[in-house]
Amino acid sequence: MASTSPQQRPSQPHGQRPRILVTRKLPDAVEARITRDYDATLNPADNVFDADRLVRESAGHDGILVCSTEKLPAAVIETLPPEVKIVATFSVGHDHIDLAAAKTRGLAVTNTPDVLTDATADITFLLLLAAARRAYEGERTIREDRWGRWEPTGMLGVHVTGKRLAILGMGRIGRAVAQRARGFEMEIHYNNRSRLAPELEQGAIYHEDPEELLSVADFLSINCPSSKETYHFLNADRIARLPDGAVVVNTARGNIVHDESLIAALKSGKLAAAGLDVFENEPNIHPGYRDLPNCFLLPHIGSATLETRHAMGFRALDNLDAFFAGKESRDRLA
Ligand code: DGY
Repeated sequence: MASTSPQQRPSQPHGQRPRILVTRKLPDAVEARITRDYDATLNPADNVFDADRLVRESAGHDGILVCSTEKLPAAVIETLPPEVKIVATFSVGHDHIDLAAAKTRGLAVTNTPDVLTDATADITFLLLLAAARRAYEGERTIREDRWGRWEPTGMLGVHVTGKRLAILGMGRIGRAVAQRARGFEMEIHYNNRSRLAPELEQGAIYHEDPEELLSVADFLSINCPSSKETYHFLNADRIARLPDGAVVVNTARGNIVHDESLIAALKSGKLAAAGLDVFENEPNIHPGYRDLPNCFLLPHIGSATLETRHAMGFRALDNLDAFFAGKESRDRLA
């Protein structure tokens, strides 16, 4: 298990423990460390913090520990009480926080990179294999007691071994996906803001133009951050550039995909299948996905192992501890 102890116990200049608002129910070991070191307001019922509640209940707190479910656009950041000095997010993704607004207000923001890389890369491969090999249809056939005889031509999926895998976003998670893909003898192609050094690339083929990457994607794995630039990146025009029968997997953020276009391509047979762990407006996902047999769907569980959730919580606390000890937090974003 990751370290449960801070490098240095946090304290305020007046000697009191910092006051922290925690917006979601976190694993017990994480909450035990929070209550040991902080004057904490927890949310044991795990009920929803909308923007009004977030602003209201953060009064009297020095910091807030949030998840990606709590949105902090500029309008929320600007109305946070002045005593709130730091927002630590229990996530690597930070698209729910307006960093520019945080910088303007002098609000520190930290996230939890590294510790969820392997769990997310594992789920990416689960989706990739499940989508390619029709796991949802097979599972349903058994549960609904519709399994007849074994069929030489039944349930034919897409072969994975040796195919071309295109990775959009070759950060830590993209590279961990590539590492797993090498075990399947896949030919790895990638696009990234900048080309990786050879020791990180490990033979993967760089495409400076993401559109060119699409043309070689027997499998496309979306692993880039959500941003203004990547919003609805995978739209109808770009899907048209994918080889016929390609498989798309997304474990990054839902809004990188234009849902109507992906659903149309899965219906028409342009794409063989998709595996999705993240959705625009989740949990209120586009209803068109629910009826598609060639779409394997998971409810944003990329980082959902106990070890990983412990590590995320401890990392968020390490960042808070450093901040309140007057040091630089390791994962400071703003
Ligand atoms: C992350 O850490 O960004 C995960 O998607 C959970 O929000």
